[in-house]
Parts: sequence; structure tokens; C-alpha cells
Amino acid sequence: METLSKFTAPGAGLALTLAVGFWLSQLGKPYNGILFNVHKLIALGTVIFAILQISKTMNIAVSPLLIVVSIAAGLCVVALFASGALLSIGKLDYALTLVIHRIALAALLVMVVLASYLLGRNI
Ligand code: HEM
Repeated sequence: METLSKFTAPGAGLALTLAVGFWLSQLGKPYNGILFNVHKLIALGTVIFAILQISKTMNIAVSPLLIVVSIAAGLCVVALFASGALLSIGKLDYALTLVIHRIALAALLVMVVLASYLLGRNI
């Protein structure tokens, strides 16, 4: 539980990224420049902070399942950044890219819930 509390701030960053993402989506295209950059930079800051906190957790024994879940979460983040960048430059099919951004997001949320559960119960 104590370890889980290290991730409160990255969790808040994720919630903020989601909120700004939906707001950005709501306003439609062409994207609001400020919101777009805020969305991107909060996402980046959250990822950096989460990595920093994960590195502080390296000293405790964790299950292989938690490692697998964390790697899957990392892959979701990569997909979010790649699809986010493609959405902004508008090179690939818009609808397809948005679906990828949404699927990666849904998968990330599942991984975060799973990881929190495993960490919280020291599994
Ligand atoms: C952890 C990383 C990220 C999360 C959790 C996230 C989450 C979200 C969410 C929830 C939405 C609203 C989607 C919807 O309406 O269903 C969104 C939209 C969007 N995101 Fe992200 N995002 C992330 C990273 C990024 C990055 C790095 C970029 C840009 C490089 C980006 C660009 C966009 C754009 C352009 C939209 C608007 C899509 C539209 O046309 O509706 N996102 N994001």
C-alpha cells in the first residue's frame, strides 16, 4: 500500500491527461493549440514521473505478473504517443488513428487498475 501511494501523483497526471484529452476532442478540429500542447505535455510529464517512481520501486520484490502488466502498460503509452502524434499531423486515416488512441487508452486503464491491485496487495 505504501508503494502504491508513490503513484498518487502520476495517477492524478493520468486523470488530468484524460480530462484535457476529452476536452480537446470535444472542441474538434482544427485542434486548439494550447489544449493540444497541454494534453501532450501533461502526458509526457506523467510518463516521466511514473518512470521515476517505478525506479524507486525496484528494490521490492514483485511478481512476474506485475512486470508483464507494467510492460503492457508501457506498450500502451507508446501506442498513445504514436497515435497522438499521427492524429496531430493528420497523415493517416483520422478515424482509424482515433480508434487506435482510444483502444490504447482503454488498454492502459485496464493495466493501471491491474497494476494498482497487484501493488496494493503486494502480489
Ligand atoms: C498517456 C498518454 C495519453 C492519454 C492517456 C491520452 C488520452 C486521450 C483521451 C482520453 C482523448 C479523448 C479521446 C476521445 O474523445 O475518445 C485524447 C484525444 C486526443 N489525444 Fe491523447 N492521450 C495521450 C497522449 C497523447 C499524445 C502524446 C498526443 C499527441 C502527441 C495526443 C493527442 C491527442 C489528440 C490530437 C486528441 C484529439 C482526438 C480527436 O480528434 O478527437 N494524446 N487523448
